[in-house]
Amino acid sequence: MSAAALDSPRELPALDAVRTAGLIGLGSVGSGWAATYLALGYDVLAYDPAVDAAPKAHDFLRHAWGALDELGLTRARTPPLDRLRFAALEEVAAGADIIHENAPEQVVLKRETLAAVEGAARPDVLICSSSGGLPPSSIQRGLRSPWRVLVAHPFNPPHLIPLVEVIAGEATAPAAVDWAMALLRRLKKHPIRLDREMTGYLTNRLQFALLREAAHCVSEGVASPRSIEDAVKYGLGPRWAVMGSLTTLALAGGPGGMSRTMSSFAPAIETWWADLGAPYLTPELQQKLVAAADELTAGKSLDEWIAERDRRLVRLFCALSEV
Ligand SMILES: NC(=O)c1ccc[n+]([C@@H]2O[C@H](COP(=O)([O-])OP(=O)(O)OC[C@H]3O[C@@H](n4cnc5c(N)ncnc54)[C@H](O)[C@@H]3O)[C@@H](O)[C@H]2O)c1
Repeated sequence: MSAAALDSPRELPALDAVRTAGLIGLGSVGSGWAATYLALGYDVLAYDPAVDAAPKAHDFLRHAWGALDELGLTRARTPPLDRLRFAALEEVAAGADIIHENAPEQVVLKRETLAAVEGAARPDVLICSSSGGLPPSSIQRGLRSPWRVLVAHPFNPPHLIPLVEVIAGEATAPAAVDWAMALLRRLKKHPIRLDREMTGYLTNRLQFALLREAAHCVSEGVASPRSIEDAVKYGLGPRWAVMGSLTTLALAGGPGGMSRTMSSFAPAIETWWADLGAPYLTPELQQKLVAAADELTAGKSLDEWIAERDRRLVRLFCALSEV
């Protein structure tokens, strides 16, 4: 497509004028966005080709609502299902003041979906993809108005986890990123802006760096799956819930902070880094990981684990807000 065919960036609507969110794809992530918007009094228009999308979304909202209520993120005692309306993709796009695409993680499908969305959406409406790792430059390729397309990547469960990564593609207008950050803050999210595109963005890179070593330790029989789990749950996790990994490392240096950590530990850290594993997910290792997960999750159904996770997250967030 020639540059002349591209739409120029437009002035974006006032944030106070945003009333309706348009959600394209209402699986686990789309339903999470629906819960977030409905809780704060917005209307939601949704498109999903699955025949059972509406009853599944209603079920999700009924189960999710208690946690939103306990966290004080909504004043409605029950999910306002009358403010969630399913419609055809074009109708959703045309009626929305902000659009989130939450279709399956396939770049061609996302490009085709976004092309249909931009054709029907108001020309000043931002289009966010929830992609979990596709580069936004690749998602926006071939679109007529790529300036208004970016990635706003939430984390599971999206109605409870505050973090959203905001990533611009090559053609995204800087003002579109600013607008998305401001809207996400209004949604009581904690958006972070990435300064460049990178495979897997930022948070999944951090997460999978740790998971790679966890898989290596399972593979090498360093400790039982339960002990590998407890190392994070009782050791790293609580510290990381109150401060990030860089601050934690600085505190390890005592009064000298990070400078002292570096002067004391840099050679040791490099030795540990050099020894980290880089396992391949061979059929044998995959089998070991499946067996480890089976052992750790035995005794409860998936739904029970999800409910337990959400209950614990609510308790954690309530405790953190009192600190
Ligand atoms: N699950 C996660 O933890 C997670 C976290 C962050 C981001 N993401 C990303 O969010 C997106 C959605 O993931 P999910 O976990 O909700 O998947 P999901 O499978 O739960 O939901 C996808 C939904 O998209 C619908 N769909 C299929 N084709 C479609 C189309 N052409 N247009 C619109 N909808 C269509 C499906 O019917 C389904 O309801 C993916 O890009 C994924 O990478 C997932």
